[in-house]
Amino acid sequence: MHLRADGYSPNTMRDPEKLEAETWLVSGGRPEAAGEPLNAPLVAASTFRYGADRGYSRNEGSPTWESLETVVGGLEGGDATAFSSGMAAVAAAIELVPSGGEVVYPDDCYQGVATLLQRGAEQGRWTIRKLAAEDTAGWLAAIDSAAMLWLESPSNPLLAIGDVAGICEAARDSDTLVAVDNTFATPLNQRPLERGADVVLHSATKYIGGHSDLLCGLAVTRSDAHTGQIRLSRVLQGATPGTMEVFLATRGIRTLAVRLRTAEANALELAKRLQAHPAVVATRYPGLIDHPGHELAVRQLDGFGSMISFDLVDGDAADRLCRRVQLIEHATSLGGVETTIERRAVISGQEHLPAGLLRMSVGIESVEDLWSDLEQAIRS
Ligand SMILES: Cc1ncc(COP(=O)(O)O)c(C=O)c1O
Repeated sequence: MHLRADGYSPNTMRDPEKLEAETWLVSGGRPEAAGEPLNAPLVAASTFRYGADRGYSRNEGSPTWESLETVVGGLEGGDATAFSSGMAAVAAAIELVPSGGEVVYPDDCYQGVATLLQRGAEQGRWTIRKLAAEDTAGWLAAIDSAAMLWLESPSNPLLAIGDVAGICEAARDSDTLVAVDNTFATPLNQRPLERGADVVLHSATKYIGGHSDLLCGLAVTRSDAHTGQIRLSRVLQGATPGTMEVFLATRGIRTLAVRLRTAEANALELAKRLQAHPAVVATRYPGLIDHPGHELAVRQLDGFGSMISFDLVDGDAADRLCRRVQLIEHATSLGGVETTIERRAVISGQEHLPAGLLRMSVGIESVEDLWSDLEQAIRS
């Protein structure tokens, strides 16, 4: 431990349980000894000299990965394992399902996860069943039969709110695993492990990285047994994160709180204006008072996030808007500092969505500039 001249020890303060999340985001996961850099350096190493705990990074990790894992694990209240992408973390979590077990998942969730589950079911690895995110009674009843409940709330792209807190608490002492994709909420708005979930997933590609310049994922677990299984998946399947990507994700997460709070204030304002616009057929944002999940969102989230989906009259109108935005980027993905928009029904597996549905990830630009851009694109 290094002491400052005045005897104050920073190490006793660097405890996620004693700090507000905003502080931990900035100060967690840093080297602490005198003379070390403030930021965990980019350690480009596959192998380490024998004689200490770390031999090979795929097996024992790397100091660069550990920095990000410490920050995210501290925020979520568990042990984080970094992966090469969100999907790699998802795949490792689904490996926790015993052979032939049933996985129950929401009828609206990230398309990649739905496809992975459907493919595994076709291969006979597990069975699957879909439930509406809002069907709390159905989810509670599924605790008796399912091997894993897969939750995603707010959901992608319909922004449905499931009773994450209630379902996790009910399943806490059961043998049923509960996995929560927390990518949209981020650990600042929702911490499912505290409620009893077993594993929390993040696509760090999105809000954690925050700049649309990397792919990375994390699985965060509450029990040593699950952490051991998730780490073994990383060792054996080799979906290890890139050192540069993790370095950038750690740099990104330092500003998560300011980025998210600015983006969600923008999102609330844009959602209200979209809802009042005569050309907009539907607006989905959990912060809107008449969103069907609003009351639940108020109870279980610390913020409504910065994802909005809204519908124009048809696919042509939505395509035209995507071509006409000038500041807002017509691009997929989400969670970056820049606002992005895309029509989702054109994506394979998402054809069931309303043809005119646009998913918008609101960034941190001036809300007035964003509105001017949206309005001119809708009008024209
Ligand atoms: C909610 C959600 N979970 C998981 C993923 C997968 O993450 P990645 O693209 O980093 O593999 C995505 C990607 O869009 C997502 O939106």
